Amino acid sequence: MKRTLGVCYYPEHWPEDMWAADAAKMVETGLSWVRIGEFAWSRYEPEPGRFDWDWLDRAIETLGNAGLKVILGTPTATPPRWMVDKHPDMFPVDQNGQARGFGSRRHYCFSHDGYREESRRITEIMAKRYGKNPHVAAWQTDNEYDCHDTAISWSDHARTAFQDWCAQRYQSPDALNRAWGNVFWSMEYRSFDEIELPNQTVCEPNPSHLLAFRRFTSDQVVRFNRVQCDVIRKYSNAPIIHNFMGRITAFDHFDCGADLDISSWDSYPMGFLLDRVNASDEDKARYLRQGDPDFQAFHHDLYRATSAGRWWIMEQQPGPVNWAPWNPAPLPGMPRLWAWEAFAHGAETVCYFRWRQAPFAQEQMHAGLMLPDDTDAPCRAEAAQVAQELAEAPTVGTAQAPVALVFDYDSAYAWESQPQGCDFDYFQLVFDAYKALRRAGLSVDVVPKTVDPTQYKLTLAPGLLTVPDTLAQGRVILGPRAGLKTEDMTIPEDLGPDVVGLKTRTTFVESLPPFAPMAVAGGGAFVKWRENLDGDDAVILCLENSAPAMVAAGTTFYLGGWPDADLWDRIVADQAQAIGLDTTKLPDGLRIRDTDTHRFWFNYAPDSVTHDGRTLPPAGVLWEKRT
Ligand code: GAL
Repeated sequence: MKRTLGVCYYPEHWPEDMWAADAAKMVETGLSWVRIGEFAWSRYEPEPGRFDWDWLDRAIETLGNAGLKVILGTPTATPPRWMVDKHPDMFPVDQNGQARGFGSRRHYCFSHDGYREESRRITEIMAKRYGKNPHVAAWQTDNEYDCHDTAISWSDHARTAFQDWCAQRYQSPDALNRAWGNVFWSMEYRSFDEIELPNQTVCEPNPSHLLAFRRFTSDQVVRFNRVQCDVIRKYSNAPIIHNFMGRITAFDHFDCGADLDISSWDSYPMGFLLDRVNASDEDKARYLRQGDPDFQAFHHDLYRATSAGRWWIMEQQPGPVNWAPWNPAPLPGMPRLWAWEAFAHGAETVCYFRWRQAPFAQEQMHAGLMLPDDTDAPCRAEAAQVAQELAEAPTVGTAQAPVALVFDYDSAYAWESQPQGCDFDYFQLVFDAYKALRRAGLSVDVVPKTVDPTQYKLTLAPGLLTVPDTLAQGRVILGPRAGLKTEDMTIPEDLGPDVVGLKTRTTFVESLPPFAPMAVAGGGAFVKWRENLDGDDAVILCLENSAPAMVAAGTTFYLGGWPDADLWDRIVADQAQAIGLDTTKLPDGLRIRDTDTHRFWFNYAPDSVTHDGRTLPPAGVLWEKRT
């Protein structure tokens, strides 16, 4: 597979006489792709029904003639001002019932039928006009669904659509009442149109109600995206891409990815470290200019699975961003490392965001490859270096990893609906397991829960709302909190874990504050969560108070708590030893990724690291043929 680089560009921000020089410089940098157009609706359709495509025709022509392939974005993340006059009730509504307003972006509600039709309309006009344009080699739908928390909307439109969704799913109000247990607190409904959204209740809403609303919300996002994909496919054979984000559990990316040809995501490692990784202050200081050593890789592995293996980075951080609590500059070499890491995880293309820093508006403090005065920013040289290296580097393909890790959006909605401990966060639970596998030097495939576990030596599936029977066919570690609920978020008749083959019951659970871990005999501890396991299955690990901590029936293992890092390391090492899987103990910050032919090493540490006879400088990247 040929790997390529690209960049995000906004021709509408710059005088037209700069475009040709910009395009030539992009090519000189070694870039092949340029993404444009995703925020330019006010320039495409300055007034309802009056279009101006000439400038875009010329921009595409200029970029294309320079040798660049264009990714054309549909502009639906930024409806123009006239749109909100035409549809004054199109805004997303926050949890307090307050409509969000015009003046930034993503000011639409996924359940607004009128806006969904506007989105289909502008997409169709663009697809008709550019669908066969030889320079338009890919499409991007919208931009970052759920950015700025916009997937969930508590609007009247959402309420009506949710009532329909409930009617389709449950068929009768009685069935819904039974499924949710609405006899509790006299919450029974007589008809679907009595159902409100679960936001303005006096105290906590029914978790079954919340879970249903989260599933509905995901379906709305998927449907919105599908409308655009379907209409683009009528006029174009170019692949359709959407740019996902980091740590987003507001909609099911597997469902959304099923409608795409290529999944992509926007990777801002340093912004994420300070904004959404949950790192300790010590780690934030250590990795301040590099980003968390596993956060990028996790999303590479996750999004690779969402559209049958084809994936890109659509936006790669080039320097300081503007939106994190603090915005330091990367350690020299990191923009190069981040690109190589993406390629090692199977990315086809990495696009830097953005070509030139804008001197105006919200993102004027956000770096690009060029400074606002059109001189080079530090990242341009790094991008050029990667381009050069790509030309000389071996062509590598993705290998199936030995270990699978299940990620399930439905389970994220479930535990967000009723966490039971304020820090029970499904993403964190899965990410902790991922980190442990990576510390052991393993390459990982993140997979949906429909995975066939017999294809992997080991599958980890913590925190699943319900456990499919197929999972128990492989060597699998389930729990904590797996199969302890029904599909509708009630306790199963036999208490659970509802896992085929296991005879264990969880008779009570306890959530644990940070200052009260429970030690496991032999090393490590449970943090945040612990279950009282009762039954005849083989006990593999015990708490220091001798209660079972991990049990097994054959090759189905069940963990009765949330392991801290030491316990995860122990579990991974024990399993690897039992099945003859090669692991190592990597130094802090060093990470490995195996492709089909090569092993890559990446040094996220702020200093040089030596391991197994190899020394990598800070931001070092190394690859060797696999033996
Ligand atoms: C992304 C977004 C871009 C830009 C960028 C800044 O979330 O897709 O449009 O805002 O962040 O880092």
